[in-house]
Amino acid sequence: MKVQFLGHGSFLIEINGTNILIDPFISGNPSNKSIKITDLEADYILITHGHGDHVADVEAIGIRTKAKIISNFEVVNWFEKKGLSGHAMNHGGKYQFDFGTVKYVSAIHSSSMPDGTYGGNPGGFVIWSESKCIYIAGDTALTMDMKLIPMLCPTLDAVILPVGDNFTMGYEEAMIASDFVECNEVIACHYDTMDVIKVDKDHITKEFTAKGKNITFLNIGQTKTI
Ligand code: NI
Ligand code: MN
Repeated sequence: MKVQFLGHGSFLIEINGTNILIDPFISGNPSNKSIKITDLEADYILITHGHGDHVADVEAIGIRTKAKIISNFEVVNWFEKKGLSGHAMNHGGKYQFDFGTVKYVSAIHSSSMPDGTYGGNPGGFVIWSESKCIYIAGDTALTMDMKLIPMLCPTLDAVILPVGDNFTMGYEEAMIASDFVECNEVIACHYDTMDVIKVDKDHITKEFTAKGKNITFLNIGQTKTI
């Protein structure tokens, strides 16, 4: 499983040749200077919730690539009205796709579409294939529901957690979240994009290391193989 960071909460995950794009917010991301959405290939686009900093490039990429949208019912419904095709899920549900299994799990946040339409309840995803399992928390506070993930899913190989604070949990809670989901391999997201979510990466890295955990801050465009 290859995990490429595209900035903010956006990732491109490759599983056995299938490209799974997560929360594309690329063309309007002020800290992205290297990734062009016209270069991205996607077979599926997973959307954690409806906020603009997670869905801004879904329509353009979805129309061009014919990728299938996977999200909650309300988000999928909104994009299907724009001509995209989708697979609607809801909290607690899992479904086996051709690349692996996806489970839509709880997140504590809000969700409205860019035009103000109700975006359903926000979520995260656990994705697993035969060999690897990853949890993408999405925008969320620390929540006790994270303890359900190791009870219901295969052992996690990595977890993508927000660490920027203000709109989501900060790094202190991300360390606890890593305990709750029983995975010490953390990939950071949702930080540094704008001033209110600026973080001290060196400090956070030291704090994680002191707890026996590994946190990775990928550069935009950088890939980590799990
Ligand atoms: Ni959000
Ligand atoms: Mn966000």
